[in-house]
Formats: sequence, structure tokens, C-alpha cells
Amino acid sequence: MPEINIIEMQNVGIRYDQGPEILSNVRLSLKQGSFHFLTGKSGAGKTSLLSMMYLAQRPSRGRISVFGKDINFTNRDALASLRRRIGVVFQDFRLLDHLSAFDNVALPLRVCGMNEREVRKRVSELLSWVELDAHMLDAAATLSGGEKQRVAIARAVINRPELLLADEPTGNVDNFIAPKLMKLFVELNKLGTTVVIATHSEKLITDFPFPRLHLQNRGLYILPPAEVLSDGGVDA
Ligand SMILES: Nc1ncnc2c1ncn2[C@@H]1O[C@H](COP(=O)(O)OP(=O)(O)OP(=O)(O)O)[C@@H](O)[C@H]1O
Ligand SMILES: [Mg+2]
Repeated sequence: MPEINIIEMQNVGIRYDQGPEILSNVRLSLKQGSFHFLTGKSGAGKTSLLSMMYLAQRPSRGRISVFGKDINFTNRDALASLRRRIGVVFQDFRLLDHLSAFDNVALPLRVCGMNEREVRKRVSELLSWVELDAHMLDAAATLSGGEKQRVAIARAVINRPELLLADEPTGNVDNFIAPKLMKLFVELNKLGTTVVIATHSEKLITDFPFPRLHLQNRGLYILPPAEVLSDGGVDA
């Protein structure tokens, strides 16, 4: 069976307004079923790269294909339907504050028209797994940062997306829950989801044997699993 690239980038650059390029000449092929960490200093461009993968941001130059579709030749409706195949955990969560934790997580299932009994079963199970049983009916606005983050993760994985993009998904939780959340991503990956996780956590990177997409000096470098670098980066 031929290997399928979920994301392909060729000579991609991104800049904001008329500013300098944040990333230049990025080349990347993400194979179906792969699992990568995304690393780099604060401001290196991790969120910017993820937003291009999520089709929220167009590159200022170069070509990007997602699920085999060149996004330069994809109209709005087609982009929206590609996006539905992607689960995203945003760095700032982006929950619907007035809805409960349960209803935030149920949203992607209800949008697909799943029957309410099945929705209740799936959402309750997942919220239990992320240790939010006691907060299912609380409004998202009233949750702590770490609780919001777990709701955001549950919402991103509830309908088993083909691609999961998570931006610092364990940045707000303690050292006990972080490995459990990683286990959720690993299980999803075993079921076929391609995963990219942006993180600053050296512990996660060394505890889990996945390669890294590392951003430095506007470039993207692919590093093998658990290569611990003395200065946390690569030489330019
Ligand atoms: N909407 C925007 N408008 C202008 N500049 C932006 C915008 N978003 C990001 N930038 C700039 O692009 C650069 C990369 O930002 P980005 O958020 O992608 O970094 P990051 O690697 O995710 O950082 P962090 O680890 O702090 O989350 C930064 O210098 C930032 O100021
Ligand atoms: Mg970021």
C-alpha cells in the first residue's frame, strides 16, 4: 500500500502583515499514522506552523497539501470539510465559556448528528478519563486553567480525528495528569490518528520516543527521538 502524506509543505514561508518571515523554506512530509513533537523557543513559530496545518492561516509563500489537497486550489467549503477531519487543542483553549464542560465536548458529536444516548455515553467516559467527573456540568468559564485544558483535549479527540494538532496540551496540568493525557494521544495514534504535539516539556520529549519537528532560526529541523541537546536547540 502506498504511504500517504497527511501534510506536505514545500518551501513554505509565513509572515504577519509586512513583517519579516517567522518561518522560511519549510519542507515537511508528515506520514499517515506518524507522531511528532513540535519544539522550539517561545516565539519560534510553533503556533504559527500549527495554524497553517489547521488551515486557519495561509502561507505567505510555498505550497501546502493537507490530506492530499493543495490548499491554494481549495475553496472555502472544501477547506471547512478538511478542517472537520482535524482535532485541535489551542494554546488558549477556545472553549465556549457559557456552555458546560460536557456540552463543549459533545459539540463535535452533535454537529455530526450522533444520537443523544451515544453522545452521553462517549462524553461521560472521556471526561471521566481526564478526571473531570466532578465538573461535567460546570460552565467552562468557571473551570481552572488545567481543567479547561482537559476539556479542550477531550473536545479535540472525542470524534477520533484523522489528524490531531495540540498546542502545549500539557502546559497547565500537573505531573500526574500530563502522562495520562499523553497516553490518550498515544492510544489515538495507535488507532491511526496522525499526531503533532507542540511542547516545551523536556520531560515529555525524553519520556516518549517520538521524533521532533524543531523550529530554530526560521527553519524546521527533524530530530530523532529523545535526542537531548545541551542548549535545548540545534546549531544553525
Ligand atoms: N497574529 C500575529 N500578528 C503578528 N505577529 C504574530 C502573530 N502571531 C504570532 N506572531 C509573531 O510570530 C512569532 C511566532 O509566534 P508563535 O505564536 O507562532 O510562536 P510560538 O513558538 O508558538 O511561541 P510560544 O512558545 O510562546 O507559544 C512571534 O514573534 C510572534 O510575535
Ligand atoms: Mg505558541
